[in-house]
Amino acid sequence: MATLIDVTQLEGQARDDALAPAARALRAGELVALPTETVYGLGAHALDPRAVAGIFAAKGRPANNPLIVHVHDASRARALTTSWDARADALAAAFWPGPLTLVLPRAPEVPDAVTAGLGTVGLRVPAHPVARALLRLADVPVAAPSANLYTRVSPTRAEHVMAGLGDRIAYVVDGGPTDVGVESTVLSLATPAPTILRPGMITLDAIARVLPNVVHRAPGELADGEAAASPGLARKHYSPAAQVVLAAPGEAMALARADARPAAVLVRGGVESLDASPRVLSLPDDPGAYARGLYDALHRADDLGIELLVVARPPDTEAWRAIVDRLVRSTA
Ligand code: TXA
Ligand code: MG
Repeated sequence: MATLIDVTQLEGQARDDALAPAARALRAGELVALPTETVYGLGAHALDPRAVAGIFAAKGRPANNPLIVHVHDASRARALTTSWDARADALAAAFWPGPLTLVLPRAPEVPDAVTAGLGTVGLRVPAHPVARALLRLADVPVAAPSANLYTRVSPTRAEHVMAGLGDRIAYVVDGGPTDVGVESTVLSLATPAPTILRPGMITLDAIARVLPNVVHRAPGELADGEAAASPGLARKHYSPAAQVVLAAPGEAMALARADARPAAVLVRGGVESLDASPRVLSLPDDPGAYARGLYDALHRADDLGIELLVVARPPDTEAWRAIVDRLVRSTA
């Protein structure tokens, strides 16, 4: 089993001391799960192809799905690309540290294992203080996908990581529940117009204030997890054990009631009722707070033995876009 390092109550030098073995493990090519502000990541030394191969093995993830490289600051990101430009400068100033990944032409030292052989690399400076401390102490770039088994729900708590991957990795660092709750916005600067490849809680509207010509990836273009050769491969993603169905808010309850399986509805701004049949799970009617709780709700549905989860569909607006994207994927 992984060694759990709980730093939720620590700060400063005491936290650095507690993180030191995890930082050494990263430098030595071992796997360390760490909190970021989005979801927990499964980290490995990004410039060590053997360490990176360990990520794919532990997750059961196909090697043609590229990884995001996490660094402590923009100057370290800049060192891993051949074409840092004024747009990257402006985005880094506006959104780093934070939940934005920039896809840029890769520097030669970034191994194929990280980029799935692509000419680009995804770079991110995370905001979580524990991730930042660990990156500073390890002083190596850290490749980290979400710390879940391939196609399963991303972890937003150390317990989720322990349950899914605890028997496959050296350390799990517990930094408490994550704040943003869904994965970073992935923005390519290597396309003709800056293109959002994966929506996140940094929205197109927010990016457009810095880069007016930013666009969403058109349907059918390279999608999340499809950056390499096999379109469609990663369509099933973010899935709990329960079957997830999206429904109009007014129809969710009836759908769950009509099903013979243990069922639950996931509503917005309602009252949770775990004894009711169907059970009622609720998340706040605010995109930021909903995103923060979403994956935990999916994990809880599984823990409750739910086999059908009917989700009241959120609005189709830019603020909810990342949430709707993850919900639609979880229905696959
Ligand atoms: O918030 C996050 O981004 C989390 C935390 C741990 O940082 N990480 C994460 O990693 O979600 P992962 O591996 O689950 O998702 C990485 C996404 C995938 O959609 C992948 O296709 C895309 O980033 N990506 C990475 N490098 C890319 C590249 N060079 N070109 C296009 N897409 C890329
Ligand atoms: Mg993932």
